[in-house]
Amino acid sequence: MAYEIRIAGTDQHFPCDAGQNVLDAALKAGIEMPYSCRKGVCGNCAGAVAAGQVDSPPSEAKPAGQHLYCQCRPLSDLEIVPEAWHRFDPAARKTFAAKVFRNTLAADDVSVLQLRLPAGQRAKFKAGQYLQVALPDGTRRSYSMANPPHESDGLQLHIRHVAGGQFTRLVPHLKAGDTLQVELPFGNFELKEESTAPMLCVVGGTGFAPVKSLLDDLVKKGVKRPVTLVWGGRNRAGLYLLSAVDRWKKLLPGFRFLPALEDGADAQALEGFHGRVDDAVRQQFEALAGHEVYCCGSPAMVAAVRKACVDERGLDPHHFFSDVFVPGPAA
Ligand code: FES
Repeated sequence: MAYEIRIAGTDQHFPCDAGQNVLDAALKAGIEMPYSCRKGVCGNCAGAVAAGQVDSPPSEAKPAGQHLYCQCRPLSDLEIVPEAWHRFDPAARKTFAAKVFRNTLAADDVSVLQLRLPAGQRAKFKAGQYLQVALPDGTRRSYSMANPPHESDGLQLHIRHVAGGQFTRLVPHLKAGDTLQVELPFGNFELKEESTAPMLCVVGGTGFAPVKSLLDDLVKKGVKRPVTLVWGGRNRAGLYLLSAVDRWKKLLPGFRFLPALEDGADAQALEGFHGRVDDAVRQQFEALAGHEVYCCGSPAMVAAVRKACVDERGLDPHHFFSDVFVPGPAA
């Protein structure tokens, strides 16, 4: 049985099977709403239900009076009030047999994997979006593209090795010529191109990947916006691609870099901040009104940065954009 879901105040509606969640139904129908983890963790997909009944499991990420569209299922026809939505073409998503071109151990626990698409094929995506790797057991893993969209004949992935990770334990053994099935693009963590607001990018570990794509895209497009990048890690080794940072220092006017490291000696050596990224933000910025913040990392890290930026430094919550990394199979 399918219910009808209508977006309040519009003539847009889409079907949703009983048992299907609202976000999946919307995406299947070509309506994109804010989301990131699709696992009920990040809270990005939260929105109101103005009419109708839903089965909405409890979650710490659920704001009062709202529901997580990636988790709630209709029990009747619904009228929903998403934070934002736009139409996209689901057919624009493509599957490729991508070949490993280069596989580099960039840190003890991070592989940088370069994939090449079959000859003549190009990947179409926006900076900040992600792909899914299909594994032989039918499960999928999500990784952000670290390359900018104009480098469309290949894909660069930054993969953190997760203890016991079914895919990530195989990654260091991938060699040139091995094939991975990938599908893209997914996600709506992307640059607000029409904006000229100063950007604060706050990333932890491999949360660097989608922001690298954003900043390389800024360079390519000649966009001149002040950008501050705060990159957090345990130690210097965790900042596994400082060559990219050095490039932005030369090519992006108004670019500032602040490493935030748990290791005090490494923080001092890099003239960075000793401590967590959210505390680095508090120290560096007295006010963030008028800024846009792009934040990528673990759920706890993103929540801490959101609190620092929105609750304590006056950032407009609609200008906090996040991509939350949750290990394990893609939802
Ligand atoms: S909680 Fe729904 S997308 Fe993260």
